[in-house]
Amino acid sequence: MKPQFPTFINPDVTMAPLTVLPPTNRFSEYTAPFILLLSCLTSLPGTLWDILTTRPRDIFFPSRWLDALFARVWGSSTFTAFSNLEEKRRLVSEASGVVIELGPGYGLSLEDYDKEAVRHVYLVEPNLDMHEGLKKNIEKFGWADKATVVGCGIEDEKGLEASGVPQQVDMIVAIQVFCTVPTPERVLPQVFQRLNRGGQLRIFEHILSHDSAARRVQQMYDWFWWFPLGGCSLCRPTDKWLVDPEYMGFGNQEGWGEVDLNKIVGESRHSCLPCVWGALTKA
Ligand SMILES: C[S@@+](CC[C@H](N)C(=O)[O-])C[C@H]1O[C@@H](n2cnc3c(N)ncnc32)[C@H](O)[C@@H]1O
Repeated sequence: MKPQFPTFINPDVTMAPLTVLPPTNRFSEYTAPFILLLSCLTSLPGTLWDILTTRPRDIFFPSRWLDALFARVWGSSTFTAFSNLEEKRRLVSEASGVVIELGPGYGLSLEDYDKEAVRHVYLVEPNLDMHEGLKKNIEKFGWADKATVVGCGIEDEKGLEASGVPQQVDMIVAIQVFCTVPTPERVLPQVFQRLNRGGQLRIFEHILSHDSAARRVQQMYDWFWWFPLGGCSLCRPTDKWLVDPEYMGFGNQEGWGEVDLNKIVGESRHSCLPCVWGALTKA
């Protein structure tokens, strides 16, 4: 079998690096998740109040009010600013053909897709508390004719079929989603299988740090991080999983023909939210 990419980070940055992060120190990197967690907790009283006053029975279903909490957190200005990186815009603006976007949230990416190049985009978003905002953005950015909202997770084959999602598509876009999907060991191989030959997975994901001390800090935060952040984990080595033939279940298939994963320029090695972004092309 063809060897699969011994280096998982492509040292040649073939896409122009559009963000250069300013220098920081270890202390500010290690405390950044704590500050984000505190800002998330300010959304908790409002969420619980909304649930109690509009749909009180949902208080007995933690998954429902945790979805509502995440929807509120993700709509706050802290996280909207975080979504606004040039690298994400680049990934989306170069998508074409029939596209699935995994976990589009409020659909902020819809502003950046190229309407000439994209034939249809399936927006697979299981958090129903985000659908109203998502539908508003479909209208706002002019996608009403070419977008379908799918209210289930990407692992739900029946749900996808019922919404008319094709078995194979040209591109799959995932922006900070593989940190959250409940079963990455199922979802990542499924995503690969859903691509046409020559199709691309275009990702922006935060990953398990490559620095051992930062990894320990991530592991500590992971005890709490999932709670306000929709089940997100800081400790997933998604960059390694994606190029591991066994994890991805390539079997006799060739796997990826090209892997172009990049770091954000200037990112500190102490970061507890280190990211990779780029495209993987199916052979
Ligand atoms: C951190 S948010 C990112 C939202 C959006 N991509 C953005 O960058 O603004 C992660 C998203 O993944 C969605 N998600 C979680 N599990 C999923 C699954 N199994 N399939 C598809 N999306 C999922 C969540 O509902 C959430 O909207």
